[in-house]
Amino acid sequence: MIQQLLKKIRSGRAVVGVVGLGYVGLPLALEFTRAGMKVLGFDVDPAKVKKLMAGRSYIEHVSAGAIRQVVKAGIFEATDDFARLAEADCILICVPTPLTKMREPDMTYVEATARAVAGALRKGQLVVLESTTYPGTTEEVMLPILETSGLKVGRDFLLAFSPEREDPGRTTHTTRTIPKVVGGHDRDSLAAAVACYERAIDTVVPVSSCAAAEACKILENTYRCVNIALVNELKMLFDRMGIDVWEVIAAASTKPFGFQAFYPGPGLGGHCIPIDPFYLAWKAREFDMPTRFIELAGEVNVSMPHYVVARVMDALNERGKALRCSKVLVLGLAYKKDVDDMRESPSLELIELLQAKGAKVDYNDPHIPKAPRTREHDLRMTSVPLTPARLKRYDAVLISTDHSAYDYASIVASAQLVVDTRNATAGVKRGRRKIVRA
Ligand SMILES: NC(=O)c1ccc[n+]([C@@H]2O[C@H](COP(=O)([O-])OP(=O)(O)OC[C@H]3O[C@@H](n4cnc5c(N)ncnc54)[C@H](O)[C@@H]3O)[C@@H](O)[C@H]2O)c1
Repeated sequence: MIQQLLKKIRSGRAVVGVVGLGYVGLPLALEFTRAGMKVLGFDVDPAKVKKLMAGRSYIEHVSAGAIRQVVKAGIFEATDDFARLAEADCILICVPTPLTKMREPDMTYVEATARAVAGALRKGQLVVLESTTYPGTTEEVMLPILETSGLKVGRDFLLAFSPEREDPGRTTHTTRTIPKVVGGHDRDSLAAAVACYERAIDTVVPVSSCAAAEACKILENTYRCVNIALVNELKMLFDRMGIDVWEVIAAASTKPFGFQAFYPGPGLGGHCIPIDPFYLAWKAREFDMPTRFIELAGEVNVSMPHYVVARVMDALNERGKALRCSKVLVLGLAYKKDVDDMRESPSLELIELLQAKGAKVDYNDPHIPKAPRTREHDLRMTSVPLTPARLKRYDAVLISTDHSAYDYASIVASAQLVVDTRNATAGVKRGRRKIVRA
């Protein structure tokens, strides 16, 4: 089985199936087409399938032209017909792994996908899970479901885990140039997965097991989560001490070894950093092991929007105003600069906290004209235009996301008060007394 599959992959004749065509799956699918392979994309959302087949994109940094080109060339097809999974030789799964309301891993997407794959599974296929998850998922959750097909792992089909490291909006690295860690259930599974990714990714890093690959991704994100919490805590301390945390980080960054800069902000956002560490914390309970760093980092990061709102209140208070009935404009709804993704964005929390205290809140985000409904938030708001006359009318302008499209000097020039959570106004010379850091 393995020799046949390897031959097919290495000759470029293997068909790649990508399940879940979101921020991770779509760029990955396109990367495999660039490597000359035929890709079948699967998604449960028929609207996405329709858009892709019409050559349209629903992700800002994925160009419609690139989609049109591969659809026209017949090397990419999107479908919601999961029976067609049988056509793929390598199936790469990039479905969501969120948290439930109780902040526990929500495995429903992974399980549903595993059932769909099991329904179409045939001998000689490779299945790889890419969704971020706790160590053990591939073999404890995926594997038993896949084997309900009657096929046996290692003998009839191959199974691996390879964590996605997509960083939307980043221009210094691409899907191809970010090294890909791969762990297989057995030797043949690893060999097949490495061969598959080597077609499209410059550097593939094999590890000894699926669990090691799963743990690798969680380590990366926990490392970020803990370090961001550290600088967030220091931001609050340094502020009381009259020290500028941004200046300190810039100075510390001149050390050529032993220090990596992390930056404070209004709270954690995105699909990964606020969520993934809790996957590990949940699993750790099975081993009677508390993950204190994760819990503590979570506590600090979750408190950040409250800190920012308190800073807005203080700044208004100094100007003789109460937050209640004040008009506040939040700049940036996306969870980080220059992307159109607002999942878990701290801006959502900020808006709700400000509204709960009686403020009249608007938002502007050039990347998100209308706030879409999420699992936890339904703001029913649209982005307001950013004109000098309008800026003047707000009692406070709160910079939550430091998009490059903003002209910070003119924002400060027009606004009455600017509360800056991202140091976005660092280069603004005039009107500095209107700026408050938070
Ligand atoms: N977005 C990132 O920056 C990023 C980075 C690294 C890792 N990840 C991880 O990658 C995984 C996917 O994240 P994403 O950001 O691409 O999510 P996403 O929500 O953008 O995309 C997921 C897609 O899967 C589809 N889907 C849901 N259930 C499905 C099913 N049963 N079968 C087929 N398709 C289904 C959805 O319709 C959606 O199009 C998550 O585990 C995430 O933690 C994300």
